[in-house]
Amino acid sequence: MLLATKLRGLEAPKPAASSQEPAASSQKCYFSAVTKDAARRRIAVVPGDGIGKEVIAQALQVIRATGAPVDFTEFDWSADRYLRDGTTIPADGFAMLTRDYDAVFVGALGDPRVPSNVHAKDILLGMRFKMDLYANVRPVKCLDDSLCPLKNRKASEIDFVVIRENTEGPYVDVGGVFKQGTPDEVAVQEDVNTRKGVERVIRYAFEYARRHGRKKVLMTDKANVMTYAHGLWQRVFKEVAAEYADIGAQHMYVDALCMHMVRDPGQFDVIVTNNMFGDIITDLAAALQGGLGMAASGNIHPERTSMFEPVHGSAPPFAGKNIANPIGAILTAAMMLDHLGRASEAKKINDAVLEAVRQKKTTQDIGGSLGTRECGEWIQQQVTGNR
Ligand code: NAD
Ligand code: IPM
Ligand code: MN
Repeated sequence: MLLATKLRGLEAPKPAASSQEPAASSQKCYFSAVTKDAARRRIAVVPGDGIGKEVIAQALQVIRATGAPVDFTEFDWSADRYLRDGTTIPADGFAMLTRDYDAVFVGALGDPRVPSNVHAKDILLGMRFKMDLYANVRPVKCLDDSLCPLKNRKASEIDFVVIRENTEGPYVDVGGVFKQGTPDEVAVQEDVNTRKGVERVIRYAFEYARRHGRKKVLMTDKANVMTYAHGLWQRVFKEVAAEYADIGAQHMYVDALCMHMVRDPGQFDVIVTNNMFGDIITDLAAALQGGLGMAASGNIHPERTSMFEPVHGSAPPFAGKNIANPIGAILTAAMMLDHLGRASEAKKINDAVLEAVRQKKTTQDIGGSLGTRECGEWIQQQVTGNR
């Protein structure tokens, strides 16, 4: 990093000096132009594992094509790195990301060579928890009728947003096993729901609805069974909803919600839910958009450095074959630029993706015949042409 800076005579973005990493093996800096401009945004990039690396490479090219004033610093936190030297993420990694970067862009983490998934937990869940990225925003928009898997439904009927609590629930790893390996074994995993955590994500959902001209917020839970944990969600939802008279408030149990998402998705606007249900319903929702390769997400703390990643994972069977759909990552890049105040560049990306889908300049999973790289390049050229 220092070498690159010296060679070009430029001022580097704030150095990640405290990351305690050998720069050559762990970080690469890219300077797209002069970096002294205070308006420039610094983005930490973690391509991760499997197809994460392939789709992020394409998304970065598309961001560059917009001409947005951003600089990327790449980190090699991944299964490869973990298997090489045992590092998942350096000790001060989260503090460094929050301090030195305006956003983090992640591919995917997960590799069959690390069956414990420890590196993914440390890096991905670590960012969500330790950077306190409490609202996981997952837009669900079907871009073209050809992608809609539902009979007699139009793409225009599928346009809602799931806001998933991102720092609590069973994900916090409170629990344990007792008498492991015996017939009397007991396994307990607590579903942790705090008043503060529930309230802030519900409030975020109402604020999001207002900001984006959405008309209603639906909270989904399983309060008929999880009477304590989701009873809290019900009480808090009623209280917060009362403060937003201009936005409708509705409730649905999550099992019924899944049925309605397939039978009549047009009724949804903003859905807010807990961590685990949010995870599950957004894979179902991804199918409404044409598949996991199409779904974008942002892990947001409104006042801090936020992290952006496609909804899909590392898809090991697809890795290295140039077949993964890069559009989920590219739409995620647009979300990130929008979040960083670059709405016009984000729109250029969204428009280019729409055109790619309409002209079938896509990968096979959504009906095209291009590879990951070729699809990314087509979208990149479309963006360049619109500058
Ligand atoms: P996955 O999302 O990686 O893949 C499931 C299936 O969805 C694939 O087999 C493929 O058919 C399809 N798919 C996913 N992404 C696609 C794309 N870009 N283009 C075309 N098709 C695509 O889920 P999985 O197989 O359950 O998990 C694989 C690994 O990824 C696991 O280790 C898991 O823990 C991890 N994972 C990571 C993240 C993340 O980093 N955010 C998210 C989900 C899963
Ligand atoms: C997601 C993923 C993660 C989750 C896994 C990889 C821990 O499925 O981002 O949707 O469960 O949140
Ligand atoms: Mn998931």
